[in-house]
Amino acid sequence: MIITTCGNSLTLTKRLAKALNVPFSPLTVSAFPDGEVYIKFNTTLKDKIIVIVESFQPHPDQSLLRTIFAAETARDLGAKRIILIAPYLAYLRQDARFHPGEAISSKIVGKLLSSCVDKIITFDPHLHRYRSLNAVFSIPSTVLTANDLIVNYIKKKYPKAVLVGPDWESSQWAERIAKKVGTESTIFEKKRYSSRKVRVEMIKPISLKNKQVLIVDDIISTGHTLIEAAKKAYREGAKKVIAVGIHGIFAENAWTKLKKANITKIVTTNCIAHPTNTIDIVPLLTKELQKEKRR
Ligand code: R5P
Repeated sequence: MIITTCGNSLTLTKRLAKALNVPFSPLTVSAFPDGEVYIKFNTTLKDKIIVIVESFQPHPDQSLLRTIFAAETARDLGAKRIILIAPYLAYLRQDARFHPGEAISSKIVGKLLSSCVDKIITFDPHLHRYRSLNAVFSIPSTVLTANDLIVNYIKKKYPKAVLVGPDWESSQWAERIAKKVGTESTIFEKKRYSSRKVRVEMIKPISLKNKQVLIVDDIISTGHTLIEAAKKAYREGAKKVIAVGIHGIFAENAWTKLKKANITKIVTTNCIAHPTNTIDIVPLLTKELQKEKRR
C-alpha cells in the first residue's frame, strides 16, 4: 500500500501513513505556464494499492482534476487498487436541478470519480435528497462519521451545553450527538434567501437562558448559518455560544466575519485543514485502511 495526496490533505496524509506504517509517496503536482495540471508519481505503483487522500477544499475544481489525473495515472502505471479518501466530498449540495438548465453537480462528480477509482471513503457527506452515496457513485463507498469524536469532545469540554442544529438538515448530527452526550437539543428552522443571506427561527422551543449553547453543523461555508444561529441563541439569552463544524470550509471572508460574531470558540475536525482543527479523524481512517490492508 502507498499513500499520497494531491496537496489539500498533506498533514493528514503523512500522519495516516505513519499510523499505518506504510510509505507516504509525495506526488509532484504543478501546473504548466498556461495553467494546465501536471501530475507525476515518484515511485513504482505496479500491483500496489494506491490510497489518494484528498479533501476537495480549498479549490475544489483544481483538486478534483488533480485527483482524476492521479487516479488515471495510477491505473495506467499498473496499480492493483485505487482508493480515494475524500474526507470532504465537494459538490454534494447541488443534488437537484433547482432551476431549469442547471447542472446536477453531484451526479457529474460521482460519474467522474466512479470511472477512475475503485472505492471512495468519506466523512459525513452532505446527503440531503439522496439517501446514500450509492445514488451518487457506481463504485463501493464507505461513509464514516465524526459523531462519536464530537460526542467525546463535548463530554470532555462542554458536558452541560445545550445542543442546537441550525437547520433541519443538521438534525442528523445535532440530535444524534445530543442523545449520546445526554443533553437537551433543538433544531432551528433556516430560511436561505441566497448563498449569503439566511434567517433562523426556533421551532421546537427550549430555554437557552444562561446556558452554554453548542451549535453543531456539518459544513461551515460562508459562516452565515452559524452567525445567524449564534445571534438567535444570544437573543434567547445564551450565556456563551460554541460551534462545532465537521467540515470547516470558511469560504470568502467567513473567518473574519465569524471572529466578529461573538462566538466563544469554533472547533472543526481535520477533514479540511484549518487552524480551528481540534477533532482528529486519523484514528478512524487508520482503522478503515487497516481493513483494506488485510483484504
Ligand atoms: C446546509 O444545509 C449545511 O448543513 C450548512 O448549514 C451550510 O452549508 C452552511 O453554509 P454557510 O456557512 O454558507 O451558511
